[in-house]
Amino acid sequence: MTYANSPDVKGETIQLRGVSKTYTTAKGSLPVLRDVDLQIEAGEFVSFVGPSGCGKSTLLKIIAGLVGYDEGTVTIGGQPPREGREDIGFMLQQSVLMPWLNVSKNVELPFVIARRRGPDTPKRVADLLELVGLSHAATLNSWELSGGMQQRVALARALALDPGVMLMDEPFSALDEFKREYLNIEVAQMADRLGTTTILVTHSIGEAVLMSDRIIALGANPGRIVGDIAVDLPRPRHRDMVGSDRFQKISNAVRDALSIGFEV
Ligand SMILES: Nc1ncnc2c1ncn2[C@@H]1O[C@H](COP(=O)(O)OP(=O)(O)OP(=O)(O)O)[C@@H](O)[C@H]1O
Ligand SMILES: [Mg+2]
Repeated sequence: MTYANSPDVKGETIQLRGVSKTYTTAKGSLPVLRDVDLQIEAGEFVSFVGPSGCGKSTLLKIIAGLVGYDEGTVTIGGQPPREGREDIGFMLQQSVLMPWLNVSKNVELPFVIARRRGPDTPKRVADLLELVGLSHAATLNSWELSGGMQQRVALARALALDPGVMLMDEPFSALDEFKREYLNIEVAQMADRLGTTTILVTHSIGEAVLMSDRIIALGANPGRIVGDIAVDLPRPRHRDMVGSDRFQKISNAVRDALSIGFEV
């Protein structure tokens, strides 16, 4: 199935088979993920929801190649995960901006690292800053920004190289309600347009429903999939879909899946 409106979907398929992960800590071993099976189609927008500590960030870092796994197989576009893949944009839960670079330079950084800086880079950086509503802040130092502004810079930077896969770990959590809703819609429509395969980690069920094609509910101890809920709302998504009967039904299905996860 093709999810994106774009005729040439450039997103990549993400496949996880029997993935398990145990962290070794000072207190002994901590099983975090058990037997995760998941296939995400090219261009699909998927959200991970689940209680704090159930392994959402760990799962995203495994897909990004930042953390290893003990069992199973993972492929993105048929290739194993590897840190630094240019086709994967990753926005960490804690935004990590370079304090000695201003906003523009932070967004430009991926071009420099990938040796892809060219004559059109300043325009691309300006477009990205406009997208996240920070055109006015281009020359500010990153330590002058609010937490929400820092997250928006990190989002622009993750999109810089036009990745086929976007991984976002609670990217909107520091935003005020107004900017959050605005960016929810913007990012959902942008992912449609670009055809990226997108995974969003969020604690907001409403945000997950508004943005996603599918919601993966995770249970804790150890983290595992307890629900896989399709979101059959039409695209493009709009904020007036929030609160419709269909929207409520889907939200309730996610809540039901999660409460099963809490009990086990
Ligand atoms: N590098 C690490 N070493 C040891 N334990 C870790 C490490 N990273 C995470 N953990 C533990 O693994 C579990 C899952 O953590 P993870 O960050 O994946 O959860 P999460 O679902 O993203 O939580 P939250 O919603 O609070 O962000 C937690 O118990 C956490 O303490
Ligand atoms: Mg997390």
